[in-house]
Amino acid sequence: MNSMKTNTSSISNAARLSIAPMMDWTDRHCRYLHRQLSGRALLYTEMVTAPALVRGGALHLLDHAPEEHPVALQLGGSDPKELAQAARLGFEAGYDEINLNVGCPSDRVQSGTFGAVLMKNPGLVAECCAAMIAAQPVEVTVKCRIGVDDQEPRDVLPEFLARVASAGVGRFSIHARKAWLQGLSPKENRDIPPLDYELVQQMRGLFPALHLSVNGGVTTLDQVEAFLEAGLDGVMVGRAAYHQPVDVLAAADRRIFGGTGPDATAEGAVRAMLPYIEAHVTAGGRLNQITRHMLGLFAGRPGARAWRRMLSEGAHRPAAGPALLEHALAEIELASHAGAT
Ligand SMILES: Cc1cc2nc3c(=O)[nH]c(=O)nc-3n(C[C@H](O)[C@H](O)[C@H](O)COP(=O)(O)O)c2cc1C
Repeated sequence: MNSMKTNTSSISNAARLSIAPMMDWTDRHCRYLHRQLSGRALLYTEMVTAPALVRGGALHLLDHAPEEHPVALQLGGSDPKELAQAARLGFEAGYDEINLNVGCPSDRVQSGTFGAVLMKNPGLVAECCAAMIAAQPVEVTVKCRIGVDDQEPRDVLPEFLARVASAGVGRFSIHARKAWLQGLSPKENRDIPPLDYELVQQMRGLFPALHLSVNGGVTTLDQVEAFLEAGLDGVMVGRAAYHQPVDVLAAADRRIFGGTGPDATAEGAVRAMLPYIEAHVTAGGRLNQITRHMLGLFAGRPGARAWRRMLSEGAHRPAAGPALLEHALAEIELASHAGAT
């Protein structure tokens, strides 16, 4: 839909609704799918670690399609020099924004001293961001928590924002819950610590010059609109956008961005994916690498179960290609007429 690179003010606008970075989920195929549902929302990559890019030379991790713009690269790391180099590589690869992960609590991430544990070291985060900003021209942003472990979010979050903003960061996404670095799994850390939206709202008042997006637990466009109306600059949606992409994205261009075109549909998105899928399998890729992100497209609609089953069972067969999708679409049409689920 949008194949142009995006400038800073339009990317801030795109951040009114963003789709969260999610490891193993928001890969390039997932982002391409999401883009078929919204031309305007800001998409984030999965976290890519700076060491993988800089020391490991894994530049393929930066691959993406021109259609994905506006698209932000999320980096993980805590070494300013290495992050600066990684940010530069991200810029050269064409990303519209470079985001630093200060929210991910997984063991693997903690052992590399990055992710949420950096909430304890805002000085280092500021240093990292300053280095990333100096190394390249696209906007550097931060995704953070409201605190970790026994930190008091009401003290820690404003301090963190002030310190990192002083390094030149003007846009933050705040996952509105603490992370417990010991004792909770990454999954539990996305559900168990309570959400504190009010604190994020307070930050809006304290830091009028910053662009603040709230993240965590948002599942509908009604909620997104309510946060925007309450004064937040943006809303970042994660799991709901992955599991029910149509609910979160299909009407977003009209409802969140003031577009006047018709809303996207699941069927339209599937059809738009067909040439992309054809190119992927012709180049030797597996159908399942793309269709695994498409299972939720018809969530809540007649035929949803048959759609999921056909894709799950059929997509890893060696000769599987776009025909499977066309076949599954025909099933959906039949089910719609029959009213089955
Ligand atoms: C499977 C999965 C992988 C995730 N990977 C990342 C990641 O790489 N970087 C990051 O900052 N957050 C990551 N997150 C956290 C999400 O970005 C988001 O903050 C969290 O899911 C809360 O938002 P939600 O309630 O809308 O899902 C991940 C979440 C999930 C479910």
